[in-house]
Amino acid sequence: MATQSIGNQGLLRTHTCGELREDQVGTKVTLCGWVNKSRDLGGLYFIDLRDKYGLTQLSFKEFKGDASLLKKCHLESTIMAKGEVRMRPPEAQNKNMTTGSIEIMVEELEVLSACDIDNLPFLPHGEKEATENLKLKYRYLDLRTSRLQEILKIRSQATIDVRNILNGEDFIEVETPILYKSTPEGARDYVVPSRVHPGQVYALPQSPQTLKQLLMIGGADKYFQICRCFRDEDLRADRQPEFSQIDIEVSFSTPEYIKSVVEKILKKLFKLEDSFSLPVMSFQEAEEKYGSDKPDLRFGLEQRIVTELFKDSDFAVLSKPANEGGMIKAMFVPESDGSFSRKDTDGFVDVVKPHGGKGVAFFKVKDGVRSAGISKFVDDALLKTLEESTGFSGDGTWLFFADKNHDVVHSSADALRRHLGKSLGLIREGYAFAWINDFPLFEYDQEEGRFYAKHHPFTMPKVEDVDKFLQGGEKNWSQVRAEAYDVVCNGYELGGGSIRIHRGDVQKRMFEALGMSEEETQSQFGFFLEALRYGVPPHGGLAFGLDRLIMLMTGAESIRDVIAFPKTTSATDLMAQAPSKPSAAQLEELKIKLL
Ligand code: AMO
Repeated sequence: MATQSIGNQGLLRTHTCGELREDQVGTKVTLCGWVNKSRDLGGLYFIDLRDKYGLTQLSFKEFKGDASLLKKCHLESTIMAKGEVRMRPPEAQNKNMTTGSIEIMVEELEVLSACDIDNLPFLPHGEKEATENLKLKYRYLDLRTSRLQEILKIRSQATIDVRNILNGEDFIEVETPILYKSTPEGARDYVVPSRVHPGQVYALPQSPQTLKQLLMIGGADKYFQICRCFRDEDLRADRQPEFSQIDIEVSFSTPEYIKSVVEKILKKLFKLEDSFSLPVMSFQEAEEKYGSDKPDLRFGLEQRIVTELFKDSDFAVLSKPANEGGMIKAMFVPESDGSFSRKDTDGFVDVVKPHGGKGVAFFKVKDGVRSAGISKFVDDALLKTLEESTGFSGDGTWLFFADKNHDVVHSSADALRRHLGKSLGLIREGYAFAWINDFPLFEYDQEEGRFYAKHHPFTMPKVEDVDKFLQGGEKNWSQVRAEAYDVVCNGYELGGGSIRIHRGDVQKRMFEALGMSEEETQSQFGFFLEALRYGVPPHGGLAFGLDRLIMLMTGAESIRDVIAFPKTTSATDLMAQAPSKPSAAQLEELKIKLL
């Protein structure tokens, strides 16, 4: 009698390809799967049968069926084999295979679906790596690899764990509309034309931000949703046009409560110690020390602002920005971390260029003696003050980033820090999380001469800054801090959130600050402003980028690897060929004329 594990009852198979062991020897079994490998040892025929659970060897030594069937068992075909579990002869046992001590002596064979091997674009388990584009075009073949199957499993388990944690905290999961109205998160919207209302469009949500706030106004108290978001923006390794969030919102919440929920989730997903709590760092500290609001804290190479020390320098590249409102940052690489050749230091400019940097000034110290780069502009006294004000000292290389534009200084320093962290091998294994808070409420765009919301327009200014915000004015707004926070890990922003504006006057002022006219505000957010008049619980929340979480959990290089059917960096689906041209009939129906 075949033993049946519950998971296989009612299926064509009795067991998976990963579960049979010595103690099932003698059992009659039925296995189904893909032909992973076949061998014909002069009349002795073997197949390694694969499914997502593993590999099992099929032996056809005693097979009395139609031998021509074996010829149809091309690689990647699906087959069903019935037979008996046997011990393999000792010399044929394979210790590297979990099922390596047994084999199935096949009695019956059925080819379920023969693979057209002559046209198969690539072998998922082949030795030759297919190109990225070919793998995306035939994603269903790439998904057959154990790596991608493992990622799908981790992702599924992670969402189950998150649901369990939030359920335990009394959160309820609520679905919100996909066909909606613009929800500004700083990207362009994807729009969907309406057939019923010709000339009008829905916008796909960039996030359910306003909807989750309306749920709070509706009394839902603690909401979450594992939801899809859509953003038409420039794509990178950690960005997709549609991606998933673990979206959270809580009424009467403090940032501390949100942080504690985030910690519970991180502890479970990353198997962290029970005592784990997120180290807190202000935006200002992150920017000053690392040039970034999502610093990779797995290594040092901190920076310090040293603008004042170069005001009297004879070296104009530094003294000019120092005297004209610019900024100078110093970074120090101790010799124990690495030293640089001329070629290395010449190459630094290429690292900072994409960030607007014009170069990286440097000098070296060895046994107290300065050399190379700008050493002739650095005397004993300057080195001493540099050492005192930065806390850096000893043998090593001093690096300087200078520009009139402070953002250029920070992002150049950040770029070189990340480059050196990698190239000098300073990045330690594991995860380094942080909770970054006290963000500025706005970013000022010099070119456009206007303010943008640093997080989004529904973020509350810090209580002590609310008056400054209401009074307005460029100077005031630049100084207003937000009750906003991000959770970062290994140089990635994993999630972000804030306490929200629950006062109508503050929300209205926010739209004004962002340059929206009364008319625009009313047509886009009139319904929302009205909701703020009818009794609003103060509330706040956060959204994790689920894909980024899984990317870090699995060590994947790109979020593409953790999405079953991802898009390319130009937002196309190579498999289904989307986007595609609408048919004439569709355009007619939608009353759309293409330009
Ligand atoms: P935010 O815009 O910061 O906040 O997004 C939250 C998190 O979502 C992830 N993320 C992305 N992941 C993949 N591809 C993208 N294009 C992409 N864009 C964002 C990031 C990010 O930290 N409504 C607010 C949340 C809130 O305030 O509660 C929001 O969406 O990991």
